[in-house]
Amino acid sequence: MSETTVIQTRSLSKVYRDFWGRQKVRALQALDLEVHRGEVFGLLGPNGSGKTTTIKLILGLLFPTSGEAVVLGRQATDVGKNERIGYLPEESYLYRFLNAEETLDFYARLFDMPAETRRQRVDALIKQVGLDQARRRQLQEYSKGMTRRIGLAQALINDPDLILLDEPTSGLDPIGTREMKDMILRLKDEGKTIVMCSHLLADVQDVCDRIAILYQGELKQLGRVDQLLTVEDVTQIRARGLSAAGQQEVRDVIARHQGEVLEMNNPTTTLEELFLSIVRDSEARPGRRAAVEATPARDEKP
Ligand SMILES: Nc1ncnc2c1ncn2[C@@H]1O[C@H](COP(=O)(O)OP(=O)(O)O)[C@@H](O)[C@H]1O
Ligand SMILES: [Mg+2]
Repeated sequence: MSETTVIQTRSLSKVYRDFWGRQKVRALQALDLEVHRGEVFGLLGPNGSGKTTTIKLILGLLFPTSGEAVVLGRQATDVGKNERIGYLPEESYLYRFLNAEETLDFYARLFDMPAETRRQRVDALIKQVGLDQARRRQLQEYSKGMTRRIGLAQALINDPDLILLDEPTSGLDPIGTREMKDMILRLKDEGKTIVMCSHLLADVQDVCDRIAILYQGELKQLGRVDQLLTVEDVTQIRARGLSAAGQQEVRDVIARHQGEVLEMNNPTTTLEELFLSIVRDSEARPGRRAAVEATPARDEKP
């Protein structure tokens, strides 16, 4: 295992059995992958494809049926290594009657942090995940988005080198999702290694350097996101302020070089971009409403 390899799995497999040892679910089949220091690695796959199982095997919360995982230079089953790992589970089980400060203080105590370090760490984390305004509210009053944030703060309490995030954006609205993705990218800038799993394609595309695509417990694809998504034989040109004559000239050049124009039109933005720009605009100018519909609905008479 090289210096820069943080996780290496070798033929890692997990078969679940029911209580009587009869029914079998082959949740993960002979997974081979490596995660490198400082990257955001994504496990992508539909529900039931083995993502959570993989994360739990890396943490040593589950024992593999066969194969092994080496994490931070130690066997995954050696849970002592988890002192350097942060984990955001699919569902965080937090004490409802504690507030954000008390919750984080509780977890900091589990890591034997001295009082002053604890106070500073808790304060910094609450600000980092954007819960400053809600730091004294009981967690039972928290929205789904706020719960996800406090879960992330809890995962970061020990200043881990490796962070495992199980569906970090689940249940979040577009703004919460964007903010969670930005928090993940900031952690990467700090030099952390991050493994996240998701069934949401856009999340993975936006933040991950490399991905593994799982389907029914099998690795189907592995690689750099930009390379996997590059369409090799298509060239994209974007220009602003090009006249009709200019566009015609571009078409002529393409034809002269035996190319084929696949598309030349005005780009559309994504609904996420549109939504976020509307929200930003309403914060800047509260009380403004849409005056007319942008284009008439199809069935409307003029
Ligand atoms: N504790 C368990 N006992 C039996 N089967 C399980 C258990 N946990 C998960 N499974 C099964 O293993 C498969 C993979 O599950 P999981 O790793 O949770 O997938 P994902 O996180 O990709 O949705 C699924 O078919 C699931 O039903
Ligand atoms: Mg899961």
